[in-house]
Amino acid sequence: MKELSDLPKAILIGNSDGMGLAATQRLLAAGWDITGVSRSDSPIKDAAYRHHVADVSEAAYVDFMNELVQIKSYDLCIYFAGIGELLDPLDMRAEAKIIDVNLTGMVKTAAAVIPGMVRRERGHFIGISSLADELFSAEAPSYHVSKAGFSNYLGGLALALKSRGVNVTNVRFGFVDTKMAKGDVKPFMLSVEKAVDHLEICIRRRPVRYTAPRIAVPLIKFRKFMMNLTA
Ligand SMILES: NC(=O)c1ccc[n+]([C@@H]2O[C@H](COP(=O)([O-])OP(=O)(O)OC[C@H]3O[C@@H](n4cnc5c(N)ncnc54)[C@H](OP(=O)(O)O)[C@@H]3O)[C@@H](O)[C@H]2O)c1
Repeated sequence: MKELSDLPKAILIGNSDGMGLAATQRLLAAGWDITGVSRSDSPIKDAAYRHHVADVSEAAYVDFMNELVQIKSYDLCIYFAGIGELLDPLDMRAEAKIIDVNLTGMVKTAAAVIPGMVRRERGHFIGISSLADELFSAEAPSYHVSKAGFSNYLGGLALALKSRGVNVTNVRFGFVDTKMAKGDVKPFMLSVEKAVDHLEICIRRRPVRYTAPRIAVPLIKFRKFMMNLTA
């Protein structure tokens, strides 16, 4: 049996629930040593798992992450943390927070983990974005802009790190069956386990951009076309 110190190491941000929780369970079963971070505690009890309670939108998060990466060198980081609220034009206090958690939190995480990966000339950063990155939205403009910025940032980072031994993957999901999936109609919704199957493919192949399910893409393109006509 392998010592804990010999296992590949991953840090998953936003993994107390949904896809992050399922991915943690899958990676532990596959023999990874995992560190998890979220605002609430984790139900997972495992010798190869350590959970930290932290909020990516708080000022202390930067120092917290910098301390974590001093303790362990991570081979893989997956950023899942995300929130979404419908726009209330009479009370827009949640708007900036959505961008702080979904986008700025990811950039702060990348800033903490990637320099070590670059120095070691190996590592993989995966961010969970959305097909929402293609569209503007009257119902949830902050969510959509957070994912548009997220995908754009990771595309640039992937190019910047291409020759430095570090891979960056931007994963664009359609609907996935978690509490985050909102809307009366959720076409082509993936189960959480199917979404984690896609993440396993990303971990193995390390593409720059990965979209699932592909069948949702024409629908998004059509919505974008119609929006451009009416905007
Ligand atoms: N479900 C979908 O249809 C769908 C589609 C495309 C993309 N996505 C994206 O996939 C990612 C994962 O979403 P999910 O569907 O698995 O949703 P989820 O079940 O709501 O999980 C979100 C995770 O983010 C954590 N989180 C939220 N705010 C945080 C904060 N301030 N600091 C640290 N952790 C925080 C939550 O934990 P705590 O509450 O304990 O902090 C939770 O573990 C999100 O970025 C989402 O935008 C989801």
